[in-house]
Amino acid sequence: MSGRGDIEVDHLRREFGKFVAVDDVTFQVPRGEIFGWLGANGAGKSTTIRMLIGVLEPTGGDALVDGISVRKDPFGVKRRIGYMSQRFSLYPDLTVRQNMAFFGGAYGLSGKKLNDRIETVARDVDLTELLTAKTADLPGGTRQRVALGTSLLQEPGIVFLDEPTAGVDPVSRRMFWDLIRRISGQGTTVFVTTHHLDEAEECRRVGLMVDGKLVALDTPAALARDHVPGTIWRARAVGIQAAVPLLVGRPGVLDVQPFGSELHVRVDGLPKEMLDDWLRPRFPDLTLEQGRATLEDVFLAVVGHQEET
Ligand SMILES: Nc1ncnc2c1ncn2[C@@H]1O[C@H](COP(=O)(O)OP(=O)(O)OP(=O)(O)O)[C@@H](O)[C@H]1O
Ligand SMILES: [Mg+2]
Repeated sequence: MSGRGDIEVDHLRREFGKFVAVDDVTFQVPRGEIFGWLGANGAGKSTTIRMLIGVLEPTGGDALVDGISVRKDPFGVKRRIGYMSQRFSLYPDLTVRQNMAFFGGAYGLSGKKLNDRIETVARDVDLTELLTAKTADLPGGTRQRVALGTSLLQEPGIVFLDEPTAGVDPVSRRMFWDLIRRISGQGTTVFVTTHHLDEAEECRRVGLMVDGKLVALDTPAALARDHVPGTIWRARAVGIQAAVPLLVGRPGVLDVQPFGSELHVRVDGLPKEMLDDWLRPRFPDLTLEQGRATLEDVFLAVVGHQEET
């Protein structure tokens, strides 16, 4: 892998007529990072990506992608990055190998080099056994792996994945994230959008967009600390879900959320002993362990706050 593999975004902006889809966004992503780009529908995530891959011209600012300006040399950027679009369409009637050959050809690969890359990428994304399968016959999660593999053919230093796991079942999603971690471990920068906030916890850092603006950017743990007030206690006991009405509205209790088989109780200045006193009579096997807010909590806190202002 050559190139710098990093992204430097400098006051990037995109208007469509009077509408500002991306509003003065500035941030950096270092080489090899898994960087999540989050926001509600229409927040401006895909528009940002389309500027960063050199297919949509910014109306303000600039970005250096792998050291190349998207403004001055969009084709240069396009040649160096991998991209999996939100509506990526592989050719359903072609086999996996034929799809890879087609898109590899579009990247300028041919002959032995193309074949070698297909073999390597197929190994990297666990598709070797499926190269001769017809793409239409593959389940959604596997097709997304083919699309990911295709974006890696030209050995890009940076890949942009726009909702790569939309419509994919949870098991395939987990496999897909194993691959993302593997790619990042090999030094490739991964810029990824998702609506699944649970998988966004896997990102080293995430940026949160609201109405075209970047409103928060940090590690998931730091975002939780900075944007979600109070302390979270993870309560576990048989039937603990029944404790919700015992807690909601009590002084010092900010929020009570069922979380799998646990209850997450967010409190403000309330000692653990007090919580224990309230719950233990009904739940003798109770354990209370300190947790941290999830990105889901962060999202609600930040987006809710933005809507109020
Ligand atoms: N070519 C265009 N012309 C006019 N408006 C556009 C164009 N492309 C995007 N927009 C608008 O810009 C806003 C941001 O769109 P974008 O696709 O970037 O959102 P997104 O965050 O990717 O949303 P989603 O989660 O639904 O994919 C939307 O309001 C969209 O309608
Ligand atoms: Mg989008």
